Amino acid sequence: MTTFQTPASLGAGIDRVDAPLKTTGTAHYPNDFSYPGLVHAALVGSTIAAGRIRAIDASAAQAAPGVLTVITYLTAPRLERGPVSLLGKSPPAPLQDDRILHHGQHVAVVVADTPERARYAASLVRVTYETAEPLLDVRDPRAETVENPWGLDTRRGDPDAGFEQADAVVEGEYTTPDNTNNPLGLMTTIASWHGDSVTIHDSTQWPYNVRTSIARIFGVPESGVRVLAPFVGGGFGAGLRVWPHTVLAVLAAREVKHPVKLVLTRPQMFTSVGHRPDSVQHIRIGATSAGDLVAIEHHGLSSVAMEDDDYEPVSLCSAVSYACPNVVTRDRQARLNIPCPGSMRAPAEAQGNFALESAIDELAHTLGMDPLDLRLRNIADTHPVLGLPWSSNALRECYTEGAARFGWSRRPPGTGSLRDGRWLVGLGMASVSYPFFQVPCQARASLRRDGSAYVRSAATDIGTGTYTVMTQLAAELLGLDIAKVRFDLGDSDMPYAPMAGGSGLTGALANAVHAACRTLVAEFLDVVRDDDASPLRGARPDDVTAADGRLRLIGDPGAGESYADILARHGLEELSADGRSTPPDARRLGMAAAGAFGAKFVEVRIDPQLGLLRVTRVVSAIDGGRVLNEKTATSQIVGGTVGGISQALFEETVTDAVTGRIANATFGDYLMPVNADVPDVEVVFCGGSDRATDASTKGVGEVGLVGLAAAIGNAVHHATGRRLRSLPFTIDQLM
Ligand code: MOS
Repeated sequence: MTTFQTPASLGAGIDRVDAPLKTTGTAHYPNDFSYPGLVHAALVGSTIAAGRIRAIDASAAQAAPGVLTVITYLTAPRLERGPVSLLGKSPPAPLQDDRILHHGQHVAVVVADTPERARYAASLVRVTYETAEPLLDVRDPRAETVENPWGLDTRRGDPDAGFEQADAVVEGEYTTPDNTNNPLGLMTTIASWHGDSVTIHDSTQWPYNVRTSIARIFGVPESGVRVLAPFVGGGFGAGLRVWPHTVLAVLAAREVKHPVKLVLTRPQMFTSVGHRPDSVQHIRIGATSAGDLVAIEHHGLSSVAMEDDDYEPVSLCSAVSYACPNVVTRDRQARLNIPCPGSMRAPAEAQGNFALESAIDELAHTLGMDPLDLRLRNIADTHPVLGLPWSSNALRECYTEGAARFGWSRRPPGTGSLRDGRWLVGLGMASVSYPFFQVPCQARASLRRDGSAYVRSAATDIGTGTYTVMTQLAAELLGLDIAKVRFDLGDSDMPYAPMAGGSGLTGALANAVHAACRTLVAEFLDVVRDDDASPLRGARPDDVTAADGRLRLIGDPGAGESYADILARHGLEELSADGRSTPPDARRLGMAAAGAFGAKFVEVRIDPQLGLLRVTRVVSAIDGGRVLNEKTATSQIVGGTVGGISQALFEETVTDAVTGRIANATFGDYLMPVNADVPDVEVVFCGGSDRATDASTKGVGEVGLVGLAAAIGNAVHHATGRRLRSLPFTIDQLM
């Protein structure tokens, strides 16, 4: 499949190529841009969760110093709703009518000459409401139920018959709360119109989606919308969709005929850019006394906003994680008066895996088996739904290597059997099978006469290392020193790139960069095809290897010449080539393109008198395919691990049950781990190159987080004999 040689693995843990920019304050985040005549917008949020606006008095705001305009549903133009994307419908267009669907809904945008004056004027907007009783509880029977929202409910075999055969059955209800993404960077939009064209700086994980959406919403050509996001202050999924505040900034700029900047406040970050929706899950698993799984039933119920979509199939993990002949998974959503949920740090998997992997641990305990042995016994050697062999799957190695590093064999089987002074000690583990996700991507690569390369794609780097690993990959493929390669991203005028999400960008982009570099080498060989002066005359891509800025004949490494010489002799300034990747097609390949796999091993310590829970050791064994950069990949897994500890022990968005107001919408009240809450995290990569694609990568994003909550809960059970089924694990559950 490959047309020239690539090493099986790159891996070099080089420092981030963008680190000097970041550490010297010269990396420009959306917040850091300015324009002559820039003015500032502030938002007014609804103080009720359901009902209608009875009246709006904007006169005081309008008359306040420095105010250019106040836009409400009474004065806003009609706007199209954005397009349907991979993530479902776009959020509803803002300021289109008098209806209130959630607390914090934008009801006015105020524009003034300074941010302070805009905020002050926003405080003067008087809105009176006709209040209705909001639906706020996922279990409220009055809520509309959305059935099988993604067509992903699954059934195989005969689950009822399976449970009949089972010698042991465990069953439980697991709940997970709302969580809020909270990237550190306050999400910002700057919009600047010039005629029918608009330039937008936005905190987005997907510039092309902003471009397409804004073009649709404002009825202008896509070519006139340029979206820039060279740096993004984190994402965690909050930047995947085009949210109403971005639309409002673009609208305000058009109305006041000035560039407009809108920065969300931290409380607005809780209601404006998505959140992980809460879930109630019912799971039942049956096994034979020997430990063979015979039936799994997993039902999930999650909340969703009125008039919106959110991709959150929480039960699906139970269909793909284990070899089990009889499985039924089913998801429902309850429509509530809540801010729009959206993907957040391993959407669906983070919630579903907690239920599945806790129940597997409970099953092992019921059977008197070691939980690792139970998992080893039920590894899916082929894809459990497609029935095809995996393109790669090192889950077994993750189990054994992770267990060896952790010292799992020293774990006594009984609960409450380990103590260290006043601390009860527990060891737990969990598994993760993170599904394959890849979508089309494009890149363009150029080589210049000075021997440097320029490679670009409209992707983003949300802190994960995209700039770095793509620079490494292009340097390797073109045989150039890293310093000779510039990789650029974050501009919708560049070739199409998908979202930085679903652990899918690195794979999609690496394959596009691979294709672009491969085609670029072929272009050089084309140039010298009939060139008597070239030792590469007549060579085909398969015949050459690239190193030290030169192409060489494989059988005769002395024979070759540099890109620069070829360009100079032929009077060319540069050569360029485009590359595109498409998702591998399982049926055509005859194998199931694999997602990432992992095993998480955790030690906890509990002070039963104070209800203190400390995570004291974590070993994560990960199969993410070929690792492009060991350092940034390890950082991804460590970051995901912190996110997992955070999900397990801290994060919970609390909504007032009467008013629908979020009660802890600040960093003071919304708990997250600090350094003292996170032990040293050991990461080991297992497996190797995946055979489904040329770039051979899979993904190391969300696989880092998933499994931690269950592993911690399972360790708590080992320490105390107590089974925790509700996240986060709070003091009251441990006393
Ligand atoms: Mo991730 S939640 O797909 O940004």
